[in-house]
Amino acid sequence: MTKPLTKDDYSPSDVTVHRDPARIGRVVRALRGAGRNVVLVPTMGALHAGHRQLMRECHVLQNTVVVVSIFVNPLQFGPSEDLDRYPRQLESDVDICRDERVGLVFAPSVEDMYPAGAQVTVEPGPLGDELEGASRPGHFGGVLTVVSKLFNIVGPNYAVFGQKDYQQLTLIRKMVRDLNFPLDVVGVPTVREFDGLALSSRNVYLDPEQRQAAIALSAALSAGAHVSAQGAEAVLKTARSVIDASPLVELDYLELRDPDLGPAPENGDARLLVAARVGSTRLIDNAPVLLGAGDE
Ligand code: PAF
Repeated sequence: MTKPLTKDDYSPSDVTVHRDPARIGRVVRALRGAGRNVVLVPTMGALHAGHRQLMRECHVLQNTVVVVSIFVNPLQFGPSEDLDRYPRQLESDVDICRDERVGLVFAPSVEDMYPAGAQVTVEPGPLGDELEGASRPGHFGGVLTVVSKLFNIVGPNYAVFGQKDYQQLTLIRKMVRDLNFPLDVVGVPTVREFDGLALSSRNVYLDPEQRQAAIALSAALSAGAHVSAQGAEAVLKTARSVIDASPLVELDYLELRDPDLGPAPENGDARLLVAARVGSTRLIDNAPVLLGAGDE
């Protein structure tokens, strides 16, 4: 018999941490039954100001309970990636959640999430093999599998993701549309350091010299966007020259796409995306650009 819910499962005045998937699902069903909006912010922890912004965005809705999931998902890391050294700091993450008026933290173990391993997974389609997917085979299958599990376990009516991982956000939107998940996905603009560097849990791996060099990614996007009225070629050439001027930055890709990550249009809304390695740290960034819209 399942235990009835108590004040240990949810408190209106403090954050409650859950590990058991079945239990958090019941708490959320009860909250939604009582008319609350439940907004999920999926994370892998190591929370920073970018995550805080995602949590703050949730309170734009009335009558909201924010659920933050903290789970370093092994399925989305390749064999040579940083799964073992990925920062894990549950206690300080929970403090940040408390500070941001989060109601529930869902922090399962790998065994809680994948008790039988991962035999059935979500296939992202062709976009999953492009851009980030070209250098990280299997990454987006891992992301979509865990995100779909989180949607099913928690059962939110909204889910919030950062635009910094623009391809991830795009694929999650496509998954929600194609697999009919009954929730709305909200994308939140990237939070940046004072000098433009996009906030990322991976920035902690950069030494001071690399940290300085890493500005080249956002600087390249701004320089490209600045000449967008001259069209795609000018954008790519200008952005490329900023990256090339920074010897510590090894470019992986610099591409213009349409906002859904299909081929870039000649004119109109597009997205400029960049990925590069700074030392052994892989960084990504992106920005909107309006192609060919000026008189230049
Ligand atoms: O963006 C992330 O932190 C992760 O990819 C996500 C969405 C939490 C899935 O593990």
